[in-house]
Amino acid sequence: MIHAVKGTRDILPPSSDLWNLVEQRTRDIFRVYNYHEIRPPIFEETLLFARGVGEETDIVTKEMYTFEDRDGSSLTLRPECTASVIRACIEHRLDQQPGLLKLYYMGPMFRRERPQKGRYRQFYQIGAEAIGSESPAVDAEVIELAVEILSRAGLDGFRLLVNSVGCLECRPKYIAALRAELGKVASTLCADCRRRADTNPLRVLDCKVEADQPVIGKLPTILEHLCEACRVHFDAVRQYLRERGLEFEVKPRLVRGLDYYTRTTFEITHGALGAQNSLLGGGRYDGLAESLGSKVRAPGIGFSIGEDRLLMTLEETPVSYGPAGLDLFIAPLGDTAQRHAATLAGQLRRRGKSVELGLDGKLKRSLELANKLGAAFTLILGEDEMASGVYQLKNMASGEQVTVTPSQLLDLLGLGTEHAG
Ligand code: HAM
Repeated sequence: MIHAVKGTRDILPPSSDLWNLVEQRTRDIFRVYNYHEIRPPIFEETLLFARGVGEETDIVTKEMYTFEDRDGSSLTLRPECTASVIRACIEHRLDQQPGLLKLYYMGPMFRRERPQKGRYRQFYQIGAEAIGSESPAVDAEVIELAVEILSRAGLDGFRLLVNSVGCLECRPKYIAALRAELGKVASTLCADCRRRADTNPLRVLDCKVEADQPVIGKLPTILEHLCEACRVHFDAVRQYLRERGLEFEVKPRLVRGLDYYTRTTFEITHGALGAQNSLLGGGRYDGLAESLGSKVRAPGIGFSIGEDRLLMTLEETPVSYGPAGLDLFIAPLGDTAQRHAATLAGQLRRRGKSVELGLDGKLKRSLELANKLGAAFTLILGEDEMASGVYQLKNMASGEQVTVTPSQLLDLLGLGTEHAG
């Protein structure tokens, strides 16, 4: 037997119905916030992620699926999408359009992490990027959008954590202070942290090793080292979030695992997720375009929702999603009824109703199947009904069965007015 590769999985019905529902609702929200979809390729030149995400990050040093193409070039399955979006902006000069460029994407990302609940090697993200402004008002709107998507998906009980990681002006000074402090305590930390203390001290703050946390908790924080401009920016972001009625916590050690961030970073976590509790991560990346070779500045901010984790949380907490059932199941009894049922099903489907047909002419089996498929109604079509021009309609929730004419059936399915017209 050939199985799905470790860390990948099949998303099967009925779960896939819920995925689609969440994606549909999310697209509606993107539309009202004036975001438009971008579909970048799933693989890119390796250099894009090395430069964009950062040579010293876990993603680039140990998690990328990199392969040599037949012409010798090095390609990588995208571990994230922000670098691709900015590459596309530069390549197609999208930043030259007037106003803020607002793009969203949905799709698979690939990271060779140790698989566990909520962590996969192929996982899905829903992301948004707002490019072309440094205004803290944009930060607040992007964060509001993220919260709105999660709320409309039916989620509550999540925590919004925000921080500022400073800019090229103040961060080097903070890193110097951090490095000096780490010089004193690094020997007590895990092997990864001892290496990071030297190569990329900020990443030490990201360490998940339990035993390291008391020491990490005492390290200096970036908020104590922000320059005036970054402090003003962060104050304004917090003020705008309060004005929008968004609850948040400031988490001064939130640095996130990608190197392109400047100023605002944020994360949304949910208790139901356990160890992998980050549902969404995002932040500002004012220097990313330049680090990818652009001569033009393209400051931006965005986020990516871990769609697997969002769906896992939705499936584990009671939410107001009904099963994606059928509007109507038709149970034809006999050949003539079968042909009539097929015509009727075609008409109803063309008018947007989901309809399934029973195949074997056995009423009991058909009703069982209708139940399993979550049909709201079952229409019973026997020879008698066909002859008298009426149908038997069973309400599957109440069990009530009534005789209906074709026009009453349309009424019950909410198609009555159209029919009359
Ligand atoms: P990230 O924090 O690396 O950020 O990933 C965002 C989200 O993707 C995480 O919060 C998590 O829910 C989900 N995720 C990450 N890795 C896995 C995995 N192995 N399995 C399942 N879910 C996972 C980014 O990717 C940035 N591009 C976000 C961003 C957009 N920043 C600015 N714009």
